[in-house]
Amino acid sequence: MLYPAINEVCNWQKTSTTKKKFQIQNRRFLGNKHKLLDLIKDIVKENCGIIDSFCDIFAGTGVVGNCFNDEKIKVISNDLLYSNYVSLRTFLGTKFLIQSELDNKIEYLNNLETNKDNYFSINFGNRYFTIENARKIGFIRETIEEISENAEEKAALITSLIYAADKVANTVGHYDAYRIKMDSYSRLKLLVPDIDIENNARNMVLNEDANRLVRKISCDVLYIDPPYNSRQYSDTYHLLENLAVWGKPKVYGKAKKMKRTHLKSNYCLKGALDAFKDLIENTRCAHILVSYNNTGESKHGRSNARIKDKDILTILKTKGESQIFEREYQAFTAGRSITNNHKERIFYCKVKKQL
Ligand SMILES: C[S@@+](CC[C@H](N)C(=O)[O-])C[C@H]1O[C@@H](n2cnc3c(N)ncnc32)[C@H](O)[C@@H]1O
Repeated sequence: MLYPAINEVCNWQKTSTTKKKFQIQNRRFLGNKHKLLDLIKDIVKENCGIIDSFCDIFAGTGVVGNCFNDEKIKVISNDLLYSNYVSLRTFLGTKFLIQSELDNKIEYLNNLETNKDNYFSINFGNRYFTIENARKIGFIRETIEEISENAEEKAALITSLIYAADKVANTVGHYDAYRIKMDSYSRLKLLVPDIDIENNARNMVLNEDANRLVRKISCDVLYIDPPYNSRQYSDTYHLLENLAVWGKPKVYGKAKKMKRTHLKSNYCLKGALDAFKDLIENTRCAHILVSYNNTGESKHGRSNARIKDKDILTILKTKGESQIFEREYQAFTAGRSITNNHKERIFYCKVKKQL
């Protein structure tokens, strides 16, 4: 196996360093529903019967769609951020990948070494990462462009890099800021994604605005988990987005964010209620589940929920009989505005059959 010569110092020793695999949930992500999967599965089992398709339209990490991913169910998984899309595509959309080739390429990338600066180390080194890790991340990302043989393989390699970079980031789990004192000296190590290719045959993975996509699809169960407050995911995860897209844009300010206007979500803005109403109006499905955080009133205005529970219920009722399921839940927060008695709510609507 030979990969293109790259004008860098490149010591590739064929050592077996990458046998350990990572799973879809092995990632820090605000609002991820990994701890809520049992509740979601129970609601679907008790109310929806046997299902043929499940759509996770604000998928984030994709853990919810993933827990319904088997040979019988078609999973549609979608997110506005490209950095989430590549990972969704890897875990839920991979159909043809040759495992041994992916393993070899990840091993090759792990063994790359460089002392030279690049786009990533200049902007993010000694800030979000040690300078050594930042140089390596930039070098690996550039190399992925050169060695990927197809879009599926490229997505898997980028996903491996995103998960590995997040493990060594000098942050509290998001990229609004980095720790002033460097506190993360572990060396970057790419692992192999643990993909169940057999389950992905009928799946669809997309990178669209949910309100546009909803007009084009139909499914048995539609799971809706939009952002709850004014914190844009494109602000929180700008660095991973930048790494995934790799257009090497100019970055600004202390947090080194690129321009993100095209990634703004209506669900974080004043128009959130209208966006939600439009989304529900245009659904074509038999069951709707909605997650929306009961964050209560926080002293940080940015943490307050954009849509009220009563409005969600009113809108869902236009589609059919609706109710709320509740469970105590310890949310992942950045540690600043934790609210007491945190409950995760899932709104459920059994959609009326159209005559
Ligand atoms: C609360 S998180 C979803 C978490 C996810 N359920 C999980 O378990 O990881 C909301 C997600 O919606 C995405 N998003 C925001 N606005 C969107 C839009 N208009 N269309 C599609 N996705 C959007 C964000 O990028 C973010 O990943």
